[in-house]
Amino acid sequence: MCGIVGYCGKEHCANLLIEGLKKLEYRGYDSAGIALEENNKIVVVKAVGQVKNLENLIKKSDKKAVLGIAHTRWATHGKPSLQNSHPHTDCSGDIALVHNGIIENFLELKKELLKRGHKFKSETDTEVIAHLLEEEYKKGKDFFTAFQKVTRKLKGAFAIAALNSKEPGVMVAAKKQSPLVAGITNKGFFLASDIPAFLKHTNKAIFFEDGDTVKITPKSIEIYNADFRKITRKVHTISWDISAAEKGGFKHFMIKEIFDEPQAVKDTLQTLPPDITKAFSLPLKEAKKIEGVYIVACGTAYHAALVARYIIEHFAKIPVEVEMASEFKYRPIHFKKNWLFIAVSQSGETADTLAALKNAKADGLKVLSICNVVGSAIVRESDYSVFTHCGPEISVASTKAFTCQLTVLYALALQLAYVQGAITKAEFEDLYQELLTLPELLKQTLKLENEVKKIAAKVYKSPSFVFIGRNASFPLALEGALKLKEISYEHAEGFAAGEIKHGPIAIIDKDVPVVALAPKSDLYEKMLSSCQEVAARGAKIIIITNTSVKNALDVPYTNEYLFPLVAATVLQFYAYHIANFLGREIDKPRNLAKSVTVE
Ligand code: F6R
Repeated sequence: MCGIVGYCGKEHCANLLIEGLKKLEYRGYDSAGIALEENNKIVVVKAVGQVKNLENLIKKSDKKAVLGIAHTRWATHGKPSLQNSHPHTDCSGDIALVHNGIIENFLELKKELLKRGHKFKSETDTEVIAHLLEEEYKKGKDFFTAFQKVTRKLKGAFAIAALNSKEPGVMVAAKKQSPLVAGITNKGFFLASDIPAFLKHTNKAIFFEDGDTVKITPKSIEIYNADFRKITRKVHTISWDISAAEKGGFKHFMIKEIFDEPQAVKDTLQTLPPDITKAFSLPLKEAKKIEGVYIVACGTAYHAALVARYIIEHFAKIPVEVEMASEFKYRPIHFKKNWLFIAVSQSGETADTLAALKNAKADGLKVLSICNVVGSAIVRESDYSVFTHCGPEISVASTKAFTCQLTVLYALALQLAYVQGAITKAEFEDLYQELLTLPELLKQTLKLENEVKKIAAKVYKSPSFVFIGRNASFPLALEGALKLKEISYEHAEGFAAGEIKHGPIAIIDKDVPVVALAPKSDLYEKMLSSCQEVAARGAKIIIITNTSVKNALDVPYTNEYLFPLVAATVLQFYAYHIANFLGREIDKPRNLAKSVTVE
């Protein structure tokens, strides 16, 4: 979704802002723009398409500005075009602003503004904010007070940054339900939708909360809460390594991030406290009382939750309900007392997951979040949080976050199993030891890349792709299909292997490659029967197993519940190489945004 970068300080900022926008490209966008304040004048430059188009249009003379805002737009209201791209200005051109989110009452606001003579240049919801600011500022208030008043009139979600040439050296901002974070350097302040935009310059960050309004000058940052009371917010130190936000010699972020997995899992495991009764910040007393678990998430994180259902039910013997966050709110669920609610999210900003979490909290459930971003909205709303330590995940298609989410969920399952008496201490220790070998197992699995690439070379022109699995590997089949369709744009579906004979087998023929996930387990023979069923219809079968059978992709041996954590890498390679053979834009697939901040 849209990306915002702002700078107010002592440094020439045009290049800083462009660099910041490039770091946010992963969010998905179709146009970009910048507003620079210099000599009491605001210069706005916009371009359709890539940030580099915008970069080429910025004049040398404008590069000396020390205050500016920039934006990448992912079209919601109005097509991708110069007129609709941000920054938007008021009638006089003195005020410029960028916005991420949706102003739900923009139509009624626009109608009134038009009646009062304002001229609109775009079809966007955002432009109303510029005209409202113009009116409020004319009433004689200072720019920041006028801005605060305007934010009161807006319904919906927004992160906004604005400038006014009549008050040079001031940048104002507001946040409600869309992410906004400030970066603090000794030469000034950054504003951004996400940390990678300024990580090269500072790891000191302030995450704003819903309702916050902010006034920034080169020397100061003032934050006001929803009641316009001046407050301070915690300065977080971000532990991400800058190189984690670079491609590091790889062709795409996605393949680099697959290769990051052993380290990311290691870092994640190392940060889980060794005292198992505190591993999830849940007091032991509470953990013992848990009678069941709700897990809510979207997309890939939802698939991690589905795998976790099998793992938790198997080890802890307590029921688990998993729901897509986007559907969760439509079910009149009567939450069961003593159930734990878990939200899983890489970004910590997914609007659907956040909304579901707020519902659960309002109904009195304790909320645990599993997130990758410290200080994100979901973390702030949760009672307890556990972090995946993946570093920034830049590729839109999630890879290392999935494996790390599963790592945390697997550890949680073991902990719940132990504190609830479903497994003994000795069993816990054996299973936990096996989990601790995961980084090494992943390193071994990475060696399969070439083999997977050869298979991808043979099948990439297929009209359709199928994935099958049973038990904990069934949701992995769903994830394999999602990964492939996201980045290849080809049709792909995942099925429970036992279900194909009930209908889906109709789509199988000699042109459809079928990936079968077949770990060693009591269900192995059944998986082979499913393979026979599709083979009899002529399908090419690609078996991913840990049984050392011939002509299969053989990953290191683990118990069947740890298998999805290892085999995910193979499916990610498969999707990556098919998309690469098809020449797709892998890191920024069409129509997709990394952080989905609207419901
Ligand atoms: C898929 C993908 C998305 C996200 C989903 C949730 O590759 O990246 O499906 O998993 O949008 O995002 P988070 O985890 O940030 O809540």
